[in-house]
Amino acid sequence: MKLLRTVEEVRQWRAEMRSIGRRVGFVPTMGALHAGHRSLIDAARSGNDAVAVSIFVNPTQFGPQEDFDRYPRPLEADLALCREAGVEAVFHPDVSVVYPPGFCTWVEVRGPLSESFEGAIRPGHFRGVATIVLKLFEIVQPDSAYFGQKDAQQACLIRRMIGDLNLPVELFVCPTVREPDGLALSSRNVYLSPEQRRKAPVLYQALKRAEAAVLQGETRAEVVHRLMVETVATVKEAQLDYAAAVAPNTFLPVETIEDDVLLLIAARFGNTRLIDNLPVVRPRNA
Ligand code: PAF
Repeated sequence: MKLLRTVEEVRQWRAEMRSIGRRVGFVPTMGALHAGHRSLIDAARSGNDAVAVSIFVNPTQFGPQEDFDRYPRPLEADLALCREAGVEAVFHPDVSVVYPPGFCTWVEVRGPLSESFEGAIRPGHFRGVATIVLKLFEIVQPDSAYFGQKDAQQACLIRRMIGDLNLPVELFVCPTVREPDGLALSSRNVYLSPEQRRKAPVLYQALKRAEAAVLQGETRAEVVHRLMVETVATVKEAQLDYAAAVAPNTFLPVETIEDDVLLLIAARFGNTRLIDNLPVVRPRNA
């Protein structure tokens, strides 16, 4: 496995892959890799001849009061996971490689996709995400890229950016990987105290309760919303940021649930924010 630190090194590796006709799958990450990332790497492995992973804690997607400084950076364990998963190349640049002095070009996906929910709570977050993902695509030039459903709004925004900018990258969004009690895997779960960790699955419970109502024929989004709010309210450690039923491709809230709907939830446990979501497809005859 190659550890690449500069843009030139990545370009050289990519040129080698191209010269021997290898299709490259790419998994962008901020490190602190877990089984969710591993599932993305495995999907990239099975659909391509070579896999590249980036490990870069991107400062521009963190707000001033957020956890950039304390974000976990267990590089040796991350490299071991990549090696074990059969990754060919890891791109792990310094911040100065990605954002050299004078950097002033940004990518903005405008509208509800970047301004609602996570975008409303974390102003500037999606500008940082879109900018780094486009840069990584330009540097790695992958044939396909793999993102997790766990960050549904991010995945939706990247799909939009790929379409709007005609990027030659095939996007795959892979299912959320969960702990046995339903908690979605996240690099931020390590921040939870034992008590908060015990209570955190309430987010998944709220989503499942709402899903059950939708599958039983509930069409009123306000009722579905109330079920999620009530469920989270049973746990005093959890402070709800939002719960909503949205159209999966636009993130616009729906009033009446017709076919496919995406249920969203986000809450704080102390200083730790957790997000989760559940796509629900109602059988046509329900
Ligand atoms: O999902 C993440 O880990 C990050 O937002 C990403 C896509 C690697 C961009 O920094």
